[in-house]
Amino acid sequence: MTSFTVESPNVRYTHQHIESDYAYQTTKVEKNGQNIKVIPVDVQMKFRTERKVPRLGVMLVGWGGNNGSTVTGAVIANQMKMSWRTKEGTRHADYYGSLTQASTLNLGSGPAGDLNIPFKDILPMVDPNDIVFDGWDISSFNLAEAMERAQVFDWSLQEQLRPHMATLKPRPSVYFPDFIAANQEDRADNVLTGTKSELVEKIRADIREFKQKVDKVIVLWTANTERFSDVAEGLNTTEHALLMSIETNANEVSPSTLFAVASILEGVAYINGSPQNTFVPGVIEMAERRGVMIAGDDFKSGQTKIKSVLVDFLVSAGIKPVSIVSYNHLGNNDGKNLSAPKQFRSKEISKSNVVDDMVESNPILYPDGKKPDHCVVIKYVPYVADSKRALDEYTSEIMMGGRNTISLHNTCEDSLLASPIILDLVILTELCQRIEFKSACQSEYQRFHSVLSILSYLCKAPLVPHNTPLVNALFKQRACMENIFRACVGLPPQNHMLLEHKLTNPSAMPELCMNGHSVNGKVLQNGNHAPERQPASKKAKLATTSSGFVNGNGVMENGSEVAAIH
Ligand SMILES: NC(=O)c1ccc[n+]([C@@H]2O[C@H](COP(=O)([O-])OP(=O)(O)OC[C@H]3O[C@@H](n4cnc5c(N)ncnc54)[C@H](O)[C@@H]3O)[C@@H](O)[C@H]2O)c1
Repeated sequence: MTSFTVESPNVRYTHQHIESDYAYQTTKVEKNGQNIKVIPVDVQMKFRTERKVPRLGVMLVGWGGNNGSTVTGAVIANQMKMSWRTKEGTRHADYYGSLTQASTLNLGSGPAGDLNIPFKDILPMVDPNDIVFDGWDISSFNLAEAMERAQVFDWSLQEQLRPHMATLKPRPSVYFPDFIAANQEDRADNVLTGTKSELVEKIRADIREFKQKVDKVIVLWTANTERFSDVAEGLNTTEHALLMSIETNANEVSPSTLFAVASILEGVAYINGSPQNTFVPGVIEMAERRGVMIAGDDFKSGQTKIKSVLVDFLVSAGIKPVSIVSYNHLGNNDGKNLSAPKQFRSKEISKSNVVDDMVESNPILYPDGKKPDHCVVIKYVPYVADSKRALDEYTSEIMMGGRNTISLHNTCEDSLLASPIILDLVILTELCQRIEFKSACQSEYQRFHSVLSILSYLCKAPLVPHNTPLVNALFKQRACMENIFRACVGLPPQNHMLLEHKLTNPSAMPELCMNGHSVNGKVLQNGNHAPERQPASKKAKLATTSSGFVNGNGVMENGSEVAAIH
């Protein structure tokens, strides 16, 4: 782990908190006919992050599914530092694909060049190896049987994991056949019975029991995609109506909504990894009123993630996408469930709006607001199992009547994409629960809004608070998260301006000289025109790989002093 301290009068490290005073610079815009007035605004803010990381318990709904068994197995394999033989050689457990565990962020430049640290070290975060899993499934398979059914891990890894997974057994769950595909009926042998209000009580009792073993619980839905529920006045548009509907056992209250209600009533954050509209207005009102965090919808794992990069790139390059056709085939149980029309429709809706904000951002390309044609097809092909195929064709208009067509073919294990996202969602939700902020003139700190839009990066159809901009573009979503966490430790947003490298005479910026060295220590090579470059500095590498540090805390685990970086 890497640690750093921020040396600034605006940042304080107390035993309990990291506190920062922060100038939030933004703009206000007024439009009057063709005239636009832009007013730069500086808001003085204070951030406060609790440093103590709790022992986190995660309850997965759909624990015995491909994602549930894969994420659990991956964490056990990492905890136990497992390695296994494949036909290509030995593999070691890792967290590739996780934003927090396997990506980096840049703290700045020094004489040794750029210094990048693991994303997880920007602030104190839960280590995935310390997460305790529990959960529910309508299938009675234990986690070892579920892992084998999932056909995701190499066999020799499964053999090592089996004794650790066989003791884990999902709790019985809520099964209303009408909400998932009829083809799921044969695995529903582990189900709760009772009225809807009795079922909520049973889920609450499970959460309470699990709470005894850990400091904090988060519930995450990774069960089958449900059909959309009706939304109607008197049914679920307010908290009161929803609770009454549960009381009267109304048909249209889905299992996932019951789980969300039970979690909120227990004060436990709830995340929806599937596309259905679990978060009917009554659930959102309930979460807001009770100050419980919710996030969703639908893991942004593969095709949509690429779409939210590619369309952003095209539109911001001034190229006009006019047709996007996405075809998938997969053979796992998710594909089987999605082969039913109502469940497919939920996924289609979730995948369909992903380019809207990018299209709306460019009235030069889209003067009439007409969106590109966008078609999504999903087919169930059992033979390919969890190894999903995604084929995409992007057709764009380029200069002077030209056409540009990009075709992509993507193959990979679906659950190995979703599992690191599950970890990021719970780790970041937990972190957000420890961050508070306020404008300098307010007396009371506030927490993030209950609807955690900061997690949009991880969601296909991000849920955002009412009247809030919806951002799908992947790198904007990432920058939002990174910059808010940087603000928590008093660092400016990552602006990529590198002004100090764009001057004829860099010594004109003495503020950026450190210990007598300029920050120009880093020499980038570009073709043959740049001088020979040393390999990345050993010093910088050591700083990011040495052990013995505590995340973002500015204190080493062994208690010794930490080098100042900023
Ligand atoms: N894998 C990905 O890349 C990805 C990406 C985005 C979204 N998702 C969504 O994640 C969900 C899970 O995917 P998966 O591949 O693990 O599917 P899966 O079918 O393998 O697992 C779902 C599990 O949920 C269980 N289940 C169904 N209804 C339940 C209920 N009411 N309570 C408890 N358990 C219930 C099933 O028995 C099954 O074990 C799906 O909705 C899928 O659309 C997956």
